[in-house]
Amino acid sequence: MPTAGTSSSSSHHHRSRLRSRAAPLLLAVIFAVLVITELLRTSARRDFSPSAGRFGPAGANHSVAQRKILLDPSFTPRLPRQSPLSLSLSQRNALPPRNTGRFPSLPDGHLVIVLYVHNRPRYLRLVVDSLSRVEGIGEALLVVSHDGYFPEMDKIVQGIDFCQVKQVFAPYSPHLFPDSFPGVTSGDCQNKDNAAEKKCQGDPDQYGNHRSPRIVSLKHHWWWMMNTVWDGLEETRDFDGHILFIEEDHYIFPNAYRNAQMLVDLKPKKCPQCYAINLAPSDVKLKGEGWPSLVAEKMGNIGYAFNRTVWRKIHTKAKQFCAFDEYNWDITMWATVYPSFGAPVYSLRGPRRSAAHFGKCGLHQGQGSSNVCVDNGAAAVEVEDIDKVPNIKANWPVHIIRKQEGYQAGFKGWGGWGDRRDRDLCLSFAYMYHVKDPSSA
Ligand SMILES: *[C@@H]1O[C@H](CO)[C@@H](O)[C@H](O)[C@H]1NC(C)=O
Ligand SMILES: *[C@@H]1O[C@H](CO)[C@@H](O)[C@H](O)[C@H]1NC(C)=O
Repeated sequence: MPTAGTSSSSSHHHRSRLRSRAAPLLLAVIFAVLVITELLRTSARRDFSPSAGRFGPAGANHSVAQRKILLDPSFTPRLPRQSPLSLSLSQRNALPPRNTGRFPSLPDGHLVIVLYVHNRPRYLRLVVDSLSRVEGIGEALLVVSHDGYFPEMDKIVQGIDFCQVKQVFAPYSPHLFPDSFPGVTSGDCQNKDNAAEKKCQGDPDQYGNHRSPRIVSLKHHWWWMMNTVWDGLEETRDFDGHILFIEEDHYIFPNAYRNAQMLVDLKPKKCPQCYAINLAPSDVKLKGEGWPSLVAEKMGNIGYAFNRTVWRKIHTKAKQFCAFDEYNWDITMWATVYPSFGAPVYSLRGPRRSAAHFGKCGLHQGQGSSNVCVDNGAAAVEVEDIDKVPNIKANWPVHIIRKQEGYQAGFKGWGGWGDRRDRDLCLSFAYMYHVKDPSSA
């Protein structure tokens, strides 16, 4: 807008100038009001309208459209009051990634890698060491998500210098709440207490057991992390590629990143019915078949990667995920979430694993067992030469393993997840980035 005259020696002169500008000024104001109203309307619709249930590329902005969720009007999300430690960790979560000086830009087609950890520094040191030798790791953004605050774990992550690193701490981890929910609250029932007799608080699971913060923390962390990386973090909430998830006890082979990229590229053509890719067979004890073919089988939990479309599908099942009386996130997925998709959920992998679960040394050292083990701080890791270079071929056929072993629809759960406070917290995590202010204690 033109600035008003600076010299107003004559008020008459000044007034006439104002009058001559009144019409365009008025138009500008009306226009501005219209624009602001429209902006407010759109942002309100994004957060609260029931029409926010449609996903997909309908909206003008793809990534914003993909964050829309269907809200249940009968559920009010609420997050626990944060402790000083929890608050200070939340502040750290807002810090930008480290090592951006050395790795200023991430190339097209890069993966985000999310490493979720609790408190096994001995394992984590080995995992970080294995990651440092992964070909292409400098192209990735590594997000490390901590369940609880453990200085030794923190220090190991701070020492990572081979790629961009974003560190986050689950601020509602039971490990951060020594005397209130989600930790233990005085007056909580324990074990098989009878709530009425003991006048204690809590809902027992299907086997009569009351909640244990130590046991529920894993499923809470996994769900908080999923919601946070897909819908919360500024660095990843608009990311439109695949996110690869690994854990503190997964040893990563040097070819893992390039193999994962290759599988992501091959998936649409080779296995359109696959939801994800995996770095290892779903039976964690297996090394792979060694066939000259790709393998599609049930989703495994070592090194799995999928995109935002699949996350949105999982997110719509938040209620099932949070209400199922099972404390393991992976069994919850196999027994309730995946079966509810209607068709078998396959994941594409290579015929040789590119990641392995740590085992204990000395147990089952025979054929097909884990060759990655930890004993008294010492590690035995055998990585063969063929696992140091990309070893997936684009012209291979796909072998589909149709018979899915293990947990499936109908399994009623191992329990440990009966308390309604855990179910509500879990559901609140699914809502926290989609409603205005869920944090009222
Ligand atoms: C969509 O929105 C995000 C953030 O709001 C922005 O960074 C991005 O450039 C937008 N994309 C398009 C295609 O408009
Ligand atoms: C994400 O992956 C699914 C499953 O492989 C696929 O059907 C879908 O088209 C992919 N979405 C995007 C946006 O690439």
